[in-house]
Amino acid sequence: MGFGTTGGTTAHLNNFFDTSYDKVINDFGLDKARLLADAARDALEIIRHNVSAYDIECDHEPRSAYLFSLDDEQEKELDSLVEGSRKAGIEMHEVAENPFGIPCTKVVEIPGQAQFHPLKYVKGLLTEFIHSGGMIIEGCRVTEAVKEGEGLKISTTRGTLHGKHLIYATHIPPGRNIMHFRNAPYRSYAMALKLRNGAYPRTLGYDMLEAYHYYRTHEVDGEEYFIVGGEDHKTGDVENSDECFQRLEEYVSRYFDIERVAYKWSSQYYEPADGLPYIGPLPGNPSNVYCATGYSGNGMIFGTLAAKTLSGLIADGDSPYKELFSPSRVKPVAAFSQMVKENVDVIKHLVVDSFTVEKLNALADLERDEGKVVSYDGNQLAMYKDVHGKTHILESKCTHLYCTLVWNHEEKSWDCPCHGSRFGIDGDVLTAPAVKGLKNLAAKQEDEPLD
Ligand code: FES
Repeated sequence: MGFGTTGGTTAHLNNFFDTSYDKVINDFGLDKARLLADAARDALEIIRHNVSAYDIECDHEPRSAYLFSLDDEQEKELDSLVEGSRKAGIEMHEVAENPFGIPCTKVVEIPGQAQFHPLKYVKGLLTEFIHSGGMIIEGCRVTEAVKEGEGLKISTTRGTLHGKHLIYATHIPPGRNIMHFRNAPYRSYAMALKLRNGAYPRTLGYDMLEAYHYYRTHEVDGEEYFIVGGEDHKTGDVENSDECFQRLEEYVSRYFDIERVAYKWSSQYYEPADGLPYIGPLPGNPSNVYCATGYSGNGMIFGTLAAKTLSGLIADGDSPYKELFSPSRVKPVAAFSQMVKENVDVIKHLVVDSFTVEKLNALADLERDEGKVVSYDGNQLAMYKDVHGKTHILESKCTHLYCTLVWNHEEKSWDCPCHGSRFGIDGDVLTAPAVKGLKNLAAKQEDEPLD
C-alpha cells in the first residue's frame, strides 16, 4: 500500500489547486469555483480530524503557503489567480518578503495550509480501517467486473469476489475506458536536500513557472531536509530522466547553498482534460463501479475528496460534489485527442534464442544499466541491460492500447506515454491501466548471464 504516487508525493495540503480558481470561474462558473473552494476546506478539515481522532503520528503541521512571480508576465497571472481565489472565497494577501529568498516581483501569502508525511498518514488510516473490520489484499489485480444481479462479480488474479460496489482507487482505472482519453500522464521530480547554512524555510512555496517549482521542509529523525520539486513533463517525453534531476538541482542551487542531495525520486500524476478530477460512476460500466482520477498535482486533497464523495454516493446516494467531479460531465477534450495515434503492431513470430540475443546485444550496443527500444527483423523490442550485464528483452508495445514504451532510467521501468501504464524490467505491470504484463522474450535466458 502506498507504492507509487502516494509514496512519492511531497504532500502539500492546500486549499488552492494546479487549476487556479480564475480558470475554474472561466470554464465552470463562479458557483462551481465556490463549491470547489468549499471542497478544499472540507478536505483539509477531514485530514485534520482524522489525524486527531485516530491519533495518527504523521508529522501533520499547519503552514502558510507562498506563491511568487519571477517576472512581469508571471505577475499578471498571479494577479488574476489571486482575484479568482478571492471571488471563490480563498484568502490570499500580498506580503513584502519572499520567505524563500528567491528574487521575485510579487509574493502572496495563503494562510491555513498544511503538510504531513503521506505514508505515515495512510498507514494510520489503514490501521483504523482494519480495526473497523476492513480487509486488505495485496498483490491482487482486478481483471474484470460484471453485473451479477444487483451486485458485481469481480474477477481478480487471485480468485473471484462478489460485491455491491467497486471503486477503482488506482490512479487511472485499469482496462480500456473513456478515462484514458480524458487524462494525460505526467511525471514530476523531487529531491530532499541538505543545506549548508542550515537556513530551512519552514513554509510551503511555489513559483509561477510552467512547470512550477514547489518547496517545503521536512524533519526526519531530527534531521531537517529541504524538499524541492518540478521539471514536470508528459510521461515518456523525456529520454533521459537524469537530466531532469540535474536541471532541478542546477535551478535550486542558484538560490540555495546545497550541501548534498540526500534523496531523489520521481512520481506520476494525471492531468484531467478540463482541469478538475473525475470522481464518481465510471462511464461505460455498471452503475456501481466508480473511479477517482485526474488529480493533477493535488492528489492528497482530491484523494480525500474522492473518499468523501464516493462514500456519500454509495451510503446516501448523494454528495455535494457529485456534479462538480462527475466523470460523465461533458467538457472539451480536444487537447488530448492526439493521445492515441500508435498502430496496433504486436510481435508475432519473433523467436529470441541465444543467437538472436547476441545479435541484438551487438545491434543495441547497450551500456550496463541502459534501456532502449530497438528495431529488429520488423519488430520493435524493449531491451534493458542490467548492472550485471544480463539483457532483458520485452515486447515494446504497451498491452493496453499498444503505444510504444519509453525507458525510464531513474525508476528502471518501461513507461507508456499514452495513458501512463508502467512495466518492470521483467514485464510485470507496475501501474494501470494495463492489466496484462509484457511478453518476456528473453525468459529462456533468465538464469544465464548473456555476456
Ligand atoms: Fe494506454 Fe499504454 S497505457 S496504450
